[in-house]
Amino acid sequence: MAERLELLIPEQRIRVRVMALGRQIGAEYSGKKLSLVVVLKGACIFAADLMRQIEIPFTIDFITAASYGESARSSGTVALSGLDRLDLAGRDVLVIEDILDTGRTSAALRDGLRQHGSASSALCTLLRKPAAAALDLPVAYVGFDIRDDFVVGYGMDYAERYRNLPGIHRLVFEAGEGGAGKQKPPPKRG
Ligand code: IMP
Ligand code: MG
Repeated sequence: MAERLELLIPEQRIRVRVMALGRQIGAEYSGKKLSLVVVLKGACIFAADLMRQIEIPFTIDFITAASYGESARSSGTVALSGLDRLDLAGRDVLVIEDILDTGRTSAALRDGLRQHGSASSALCTLLRKPAAAALDLPVAYVGFDIRDDFVVGYGMDYAERYRNLPGIHRLVFEAGEGGAGKQKPPPKRG
């Protein structure tokens, strides 16, 4: 099955939006003990750009989340690693994610963070798909609400590829022999 990339959000639009998010976070967390918790791997590029737009002091930590399974839809199991070495007692935690789909990763994280004594925790995601938007999941900062497409680039991958693309692209799977463009569910990664 052939793959095709379609540009969804160009680099320049991402830059403008990330700058606005960073400024907003800096203003809203002014006077607080901000700790960014970046969810690897997908959020690495977003986080690197975002943190350079936040003009107040903050700490940075990284954790890894991976959901396993055959389907691009909720696989059920979310494996988190790195939470145990965080010291977030009394901190105002802002979790930085690449994309919310089913929201399972975020829900697992929120439960994990709750046990770590942070003063508050909130969520910032670059992208949000419709399923997550429909959930009762409080998201403080959303870069872009997108359709239910599989996307890659700007840190996000398909089987570890395409993370290096500066823009965000839809990944379209095309059946050969005159088949109409049909999207195959790719496996989810971190
Ligand atoms: P959720 O737990 O279903 O919300 O999925 C969250 C994780 O699945 C994200 O952090 C991504 O790592 C991955 N993911 C979900 N949708 C996409 C996509 O369209 N492209 C790349 N990765 C995705
Ligand atoms: Mg991810």
